[in-house]
Amino acid sequence: MIDSVLNPYTEAYNRSLTDPVGFWTDQARAIPWVEFPTDILSKDENGLTRWYADGMMNTCYAAVDYHVEQGRGDQIALIYDSPVTRTVRRYTYRDLQTEVAQVAGALRQLGVGYGDTVVIYLPMVPEAAFAMLACARLGAVHSVVFGGFAPHELALRINDAQPKVILSASCGIEFDRVIPYKPLLDEAIRLAEHQPDYCLILQRPQCTAELQAGRDIDWASVVRQADPAGWIPVRATDPLYILYTSGTTGKPKGIVRDNGGHAVALKYSLKAIYNVEPGDVFWAASDLGWAVGHCYIVYGTLIGGCTAILFEGKPVRTPDAGTYWRVIQDHRVKVFFTAPTAFRAIKKEDPEGRLRQGYDQSSLETIFVAGERCDPPTLNWLGDLTGVPIIDHWWQTESGWPMVANPMGLGPVLVKAGSSSLPVPGYDLQILNEAGEPLGPNEEGYVCLKLPLPPGFTPTLWRDPERFRQAYLDRFPGYYLSGDGGYRDADGYVFIMGRVDDVINVAGHRLSTGEMEEIVSAHPAVAECAVVGIADELRGQRPVGFVVLKDDWLDTSRSVETELVAMIREKIGAVAYFRQAVIVKRLPKTRSGKILRKTIRQIADGESFTVPSTIDDPMILDEIRVMLNHSGITRS
Ligand code: COA
Ligand code: AMP
Repeated sequence: MIDSVLNPYTEAYNRSLTDPVGFWTDQARAIPWVEFPTDILSKDENGLTRWYADGMMNTCYAAVDYHVEQGRGDQIALIYDSPVTRTVRRYTYRDLQTEVAQVAGALRQLGVGYGDTVVIYLPMVPEAAFAMLACARLGAVHSVVFGGFAPHELALRINDAQPKVILSASCGIEFDRVIPYKPLLDEAIRLAEHQPDYCLILQRPQCTAELQAGRDIDWASVVRQADPAGWIPVRATDPLYILYTSGTTGKPKGIVRDNGGHAVALKYSLKAIYNVEPGDVFWAASDLGWAVGHCYIVYGTLIGGCTAILFEGKPVRTPDAGTYWRVIQDHRVKVFFTAPTAFRAIKKEDPEGRLRQGYDQSSLETIFVAGERCDPPTLNWLGDLTGVPIIDHWWQTESGWPMVANPMGLGPVLVKAGSSSLPVPGYDLQILNEAGEPLGPNEEGYVCLKLPLPPGFTPTLWRDPERFRQAYLDRFPGYYLSGDGGYRDADGYVFIMGRVDDVINVAGHRLSTGEMEEIVSAHPAVAECAVVGIADELRGQRPVGFVVLKDDWLDTSRSVETELVAMIREKIGAVAYFRQAVIVKRLPKTRSGKILRKTIRQIADGESFTVPSTIDDPMILDEIRVMLNHSGITRS
C-alpha cells in the first residue's frame, strides 16, 4: 500500500489492492460486453487466476466495429507510414472494419474457426494488423512471430502453436535491403514437425514469392473474393493470442493473452498511464512481433478509440535520424512510445538534434520508453531536446501492459532519475530476498508481484500450466517471480536493476543466453561454454560467448569462432547480434560447479565486484581478464 496524501493515483492503487473485485468490475464497464461478467475473479481448473470467467465479448468488435457503431466510423484508426516503401496510407475505423472482415472471411474459407491457431509471420504492413484482428473476430488464436527470427525459431513456434494456417509475405524491408521471407518460411515448415494446411502469402511489389501448389495461396485473390465475416462472441477467458518469448532454455515460452481481462487492462492503461483519449494519436514505434506492438499498435490503441501508427522503418537511415520527428509532425502524435535503444541510435547520428529542427512538434505531450533500462544520459538528452516529460516504465511480455510507471492520467508523480516510478494499480509489487521474505527500503532483491495478478497479465503458458507454475510461481509461493532484480526506495519508487536469470535485452529484443549456450555447446569443438550479456553502447546489451575447446580442437580457435557466430545467426537470427566468442582455457565456477556468469559479465563491463566466496579457483578470473583485454572487449 502507498501511504501518502491521497491523490487519484494513491486512491486507485490502494483500492486495486484492497478491493480488486470492485476495482476491476468498475474498469470492466469501460469496454463493450455481450454478457457482462458476474464472476470477476476466480481460479481455473489448474488453480490459476482468471478474470471475468463468465463474461462474453469479442476483442475485434471492441477494437473496430464498436467504434463504427458509436459514430467514429470516419475517424482515422490506423496510419501505415512506411519510409522504406515511401508509402503513407490511412484507414478509418470503417475501412478497418471492411479490411478485417475480408481477411476473416478468407481465413474462414480456409477452415479457420473458433479455437484454431494461426501463425502470422509478416513484416510491418497493415495486413499484419488486419490478420490479428481477423483472428480475434473468428475466435481464433494468433501467434505473431517477429520477422527477424530465423527459420529454426519460427519452426519451434509452429510446432508449439500447431497453426492451421500461416500468414506471411514475399518479403520484408530492412533499411534499404529487401529480405525475402518466403524461403525462410519454407525452411521453417521443412524443419517443423507440424504442417499447416495452408499458407496465405502477401505478394509485395519489391519481391515475388514462388507459391507451392496446394499449400500456398495468394493473399490478394482470396481476400478480395471472400465473403466478409462477422464477429462471434467468445468467453473472456478464451485465448486471444500466444506470444512466444525467450525464457532460460531453448524452448520459448508461449505467453497466453485472454480476451476480456486484456481488453479491460489495456483500456484502463490508456487513460490512467498514457493519458490518451479517444481521437488522440498514440504511436508505439515497436514491431508487431513484440508485446508493445500487440498492445499499443493494435489492441489497446484501437480499443481506446485512438489513432494508431504502424511504422515500417527504423529510427535511423530511413532515410535519416530525423524520421521520428517527421512522423510526429505529419500525424500530430500526442504520445510516443519506443525503446531507449532507438533514441541511442538517433543520438549517435544526430547528437545536436539538428534533424529535428523544422519539424513541428507541438502535438507531442509525452514520450514513454520501455523494454530495457533507460540510461540517464539518453533520458536527459531526450528530455533536453524535446522539452516533454520522458516516462520510463517497466513491463514484460508476460504482463502485456505496464507494471511500474508514472501514471500520467491519474496525475503525474515526481520523477526520480533511474526509477520507472511507482507500481501501477493492480500490481502489488514487493522485493523479496533469497528466502522469500519482503525486503525493506533500498534493499536489493527479486522483484516479485503478490498474487493475484491483475487482468491482462498472462494467466498461463500455452498448453503448459505446469511450466507456468515452475517458471514463475514455485520459487516464492504466493508471488510471481518477474526475473528482474531491483529495489524500492523509502518513497516506494521502484528501481529495476536488470535480469537475474539468463535473459538479455539486445536492441530492445528479448533473447535467451541459455538458448545460445545450447546452440554453442552443440558444436563438436566445444567442451563447455557460457554466453553472457555484456554492456553495449547502442544496443544496451550484446551476447558474447566464452568457450572452452576440447583438447584436439585447440588449433582451430579462429575458425570455431566464425562457425559459432554463423550458427547463432542461422538458428536464432541476425537480431541475436552474437558477434564474438572468446576462447578461454577454463570457466570460473563455484565449488559445486556452477559457472559464475555474473562475475564474467562484471569483468567484461569493467565493474568492481567481490570475488565470490564460493569460487573454486580465483586465478581463473585473471585468465578471463587477460582474454577479454586481448579480444578488446573489456571496458575500462
Ligand atoms: N527482419 C529481418 N532482419 C532484422 C530485423 C527484421 N525485422 N530486425 C533486425 N534485423 C537484422 C538487422 O538487419 C541486422 O542484420 P545484419 O547483422 O545483417 O546487419 C541484425 O538483425 C541486427 O539488427 P539490430 O540489432 O536491430 O541492428 P541494426 O543496426 O539493424 O539497428 C537499431 C539498430 C537500434 C536501429 C534497431 O535495433 C532498432 O530500431 N531498435 C529499436 C527496437 C524497438 O523499437 N523495439 C521496441 C520495443 S518496445
Ligand atoms: P520483454 O518481455 O521483451 O518486454 O522484456 C521484458 C524485460 O525487459 C524485463 O523483464 C526487464 O528486464 C526489461 N525491461 C523492460 N522495461 C524496463 C524498464 N523500464 N527498465 C528496466 N528494464 C526493463
